[in-house]
Amino acid sequence: MKNLFIIANWKANKTEFEAKDWLQRFMIDDLRITNKEVIICPPFTLLSNLKSYILNHNSLLKLGSQNISPFDAGAYTGEINGDQIKEFADYVIIGHSERRQNFSETDEDLSKKVEMAKKNGLTPIFCIQDENTQIPAGVSLVAYEPISAIGTGNPDTPENTEKIATLVKEKNKNIEHVLYGGSVMSSNINTFTTMPNISGALVGGASLDPLEFLAIIKNA
Ligand code: PGA
Repeated sequence: MKNLFIIANWKANKTEFEAKDWLQRFMIDDLRITNKEVIICPPFTLLSNLKSYILNHNSLLKLGSQNISPFDAGAYTGEINGDQIKEFADYVIIGHSERRQNFSETDEDLSKKVEMAKKNGLTPIFCIQDENTQIPAGVSLVAYEPISAIGTGNPDTPENTEKIATLVKEKNKNIEHVLYGGSVMSSNINTFTTMPNISGALVGGASLDPLEFLAIIKNA
């Protein structure tokens, strides 16, 4: 059985109260999920609460942040750096198309962010939009997320995703895992995870509902 990563990207969603409710309804630890790494990437404001929950419940969940400063500590108003993130998380999403589009992040910015993640012992979950997206050195975990599939209910085909995953791994020998993201649901997750070169999913909208996310993990 291959190892899978099932990652929730909550984006800019959930208050403290809503996150607590989500956790109460999400009974992950009842599941036997030895081959699945389940990672929640909440907004920064919720990382501390989720970390406490994990410690108090001996939970198998892992945490990731959705961004990282390209700088170390210092006079960078509004930024959160790797040293701060690593107190709570093991992973960081870098290069999501929403950040490229809405915050004008460039390939150069993203390389600096990957560097910062590595320097602080965080594993980058590096998002690519197609097989030509530049991937910085040091990335081992990639999420293929075609823009047309994000939040549209219109996922790419598992066959095309498998083709891209294979190409990406051939071109970049250090990339161990390629995940798929874009309109993943409990009803389609296993069409992706049964493909030999797809190692899991980055789930946006469907991860906001704890029962749907649980079903995605079970069906993966
Ligand atoms: P979606 O988002 O699952 O809502 O399509 C995926 C993502 O943007 O990571």
